[in-house]
Amino acid sequence: MMAEKGGYKHFMHKEIHEQPRAIADTLRGRMLLSEGDVHFDTWNLSLEQVKSFTKVTILACGTSWHSGVAGKHMIESLARLPVEVELASEFRYRDPIVEKSHLVIAISQSGETADTLGAFKEAKRLGAHTLAICNVIGSAMTRESDLHILTNAGPEIGVASTKAFTTQLVTLYLLAVKLGRMRGTLSVEGAQEHLTQLAQVPKMIEDVLKCEPQVKRVAREFMNAQDFLFLGRGPMHPVALEGALKLKEISYIHAEGYAGGEMKHGPIALIDEKMPVVVIAPKHPHVAYEKIIGNIEEVRARGGKVIAVIDEDDTQADTLADHVIRIPAASALLAPVVATIPLQLLAYHVAEMRGNDVDQPRNLAKSVTVE
Ligand code: G6P
Repeated sequence: MMAEKGGYKHFMHKEIHEQPRAIADTLRGRMLLSEGDVHFDTWNLSLEQVKSFTKVTILACGTSWHSGVAGKHMIESLARLPVEVELASEFRYRDPIVEKSHLVIAISQSGETADTLGAFKEAKRLGAHTLAICNVIGSAMTRESDLHILTNAGPEIGVASTKAFTTQLVTLYLLAVKLGRMRGTLSVEGAQEHLTQLAQVPKMIEDVLKCEPQVKRVAREFMNAQDFLFLGRGPMHPVALEGALKLKEISYIHAEGYAGGEMKHGPIALIDEKMPVVVIAPKHPHVAYEKIIGNIEEVRARGGKVIAVIDEDDTQADTLADHVIRIPAASALLAPVVATIPLQLLAYHVAEMRGNDVDQPRNLAKSVTVE
């Protein structure tokens, strides 16, 4: 059994460490650097079709929904198409507005989640063009869609999703570049710059994994906390949501992910000296760095304990937080991939220290094929 897990105690831990390889597999053969373009084997959309899209709707559940929220930032920024991210479980039951000019994207690790599949079929019935981003080849969603793109993460066994999530983010980034080139919102040089950055991600993930000893110390200090708050702004908001979800799924500690600016509208009332607050604060004007520093100060003023995920060369947040976890600096759209890794490790180590069944958390299933 240990051999199956590559020497790791749990599949989840193995899968966290597989991410440099998984992301390299997602990128392989798809980046045409000299042309400043992206190649997907399955791509079948004409220039005319892509130019006719007026809106993208993303349908997903759970962790895949979080990658959709990050994907919205990528597609809106690079392809200048408005994107709505919908909870698939809600979509079907509210008379959704779907038109022929809409591109509907389902994101699903398994490709079998009943809610996502149901919503996706409904969108197709209403005339949208459908694209499935899945990890499992031949899955229902890949069969139902007009077009599918595989994330190529390899089999994911741990119920809590890790490498499936980060490879979804990278796939969405490639898709955003492709759409941006076809729509003419991204120049060849612009695309080349994005692709050059994407090519560095596997190495960056290798580097960020080295923060594990520091994350373990944080996990030990807070393993008995009752609640956690995760804060992030802009493209870091879905990272905060995902960090909180990972922790609750496997450690059973209550956790909430919030957009930093919303803290004052509710969660601030929860903050006291027992409350650890994970602030995801890489240094980008895009993610309103100064504002997230303001969040750190507000938490500290109320006695809360701040764990800040910051760029390796940041000296400002360093002096304000109780604990810092340093990550390699990445562009604003890529930082979600990098910043997610310490949060996966935090959830893993807290759960492991609490003696939980990490790979088979109570009440959860890897793939929910009933409504
Ligand atoms: C289940 C899993 C989650 C997953 C969600 C969506 O709830 O426990 O980890 O994010 O389903 O799954 P999908 O296969 O559609 O991405």
